[in-house]
Amino acid sequence: MMSKIVYVTRRERFNAAHKLANPLWDDETNKKIFGKCSNPNWHGHNYDLFVTVKGEPQPETGFCIDLKYLSDIIEERVTDKLDHKNLNIDVDFMQGILTSTENLAIAIWEQLEAAIAEKGCILHSVKLYETENNFVEYFGGK
Ligand code: NI
Repeated sequence: MMSKIVYVTRRERFNAAHKLANPLWDDETNKKIFGKCSNPNWHGHNYDLFVTVKGEPQPETGFCIDLKYLSDIIEERVTDKLDHKNLNIDVDFMQGILTSTENLAIAIWEQLEAAIAEKGCILHSVKLYETENNFVEYFGGK
């Protein structure tokens, strides 16, 4: 029988402070590479996060994944840890990692993948907007 895979997306928002600075470089080099994002006294972004899960609708519910469950695990594992926080300092899973949108999207994926698999679904993508015009998508290295 043909499988009927559906992609389900939950959107969450958070805002957070960060700065981009490679500790191995001096301030001038950081400024050259990272521009305003290297400001030593931090700055903030309003992030928009889209988490997409794929799976077949279950016969009992018609759902691939219960969106309440998806929303709860994103909140518990991701947005509660990031929202109104300093990404460079406050976040356990960003310690020692440059807080680029790329690295943040990968880290968010790693926070969520197992909890989604527990429900028999597959995490398809993490899409993270840092600004209206700039976003990153991660598909788990595939
Ligand atoms: Ni920035």
